[in-house]
Amino acid sequence: MSEHETTSEGTGEPTRRDFLYLTTGMAGAVGAVAVAWPFIDQMRPDASTLALASIEVDVASLEPGMSLTVKWRGKPIFIRNRTPEEVEAANAVQLADLKDPIARNANLPVDAQATGVDRSGGKGKENWIVMIGTCTHLGCVPLGQAGEYNGWFCPCHGSVYDTAGRIRKGPAPENLAIPTFSFVSDTKIKIG
Ligand code: FES
Repeated sequence: MSEHETTSEGTGEPTRRDFLYLTTGMAGAVGAVAVAWPFIDQMRPDASTLALASIEVDVASLEPGMSLTVKWRGKPIFIRNRTPEEVEAANAVQLADLKDPIARNANLPVDAQATGVDRSGGKGKENWIVMIGTCTHLGCVPLGQAGEYNGWFCPCHGSVYDTAGRIRKGPAPENLAIPTFSFVSDTKIKIG
């Protein structure tokens, strides 16, 4: 083997033959995508199907103090089995102290107030909280059991939510939104 050939191999440069092969391969890939697209497009559900989409979440394994994040309609949904202390802390807050006194609970009238109960799974299910995990400021995903109120904290610009997901400090204007949900059994929550 000549000295020149050794150097050429060492650089790892593609040879002319390799280049032609790669070019052909790319043309093939583009062709495959062009053919596959119409099929994918047909499989996409229409808007009415998407609007109806709901999910059922088994929460049997969530002990008090445990949380779960699931995805629904492309959004993170926080489900938390709150501790008695968290429920108590949320219920002790006066509405007058809230930045946003509206429940923002899709299961209640639009003007329902943000009491501890109306932010939760309701009477008898006050330990449960189900919320869309999107900060009402600019849409970051807040961190759980963090911040001054040990609720949720959005690190993007410092919004602080309490143990009922109500905005208490920072730039976010509204409480974390509560989606439509119901208990289909004691351990199963239907969202949507
Ligand atoms: S996006 Fe949460 S504080 Fe700005």
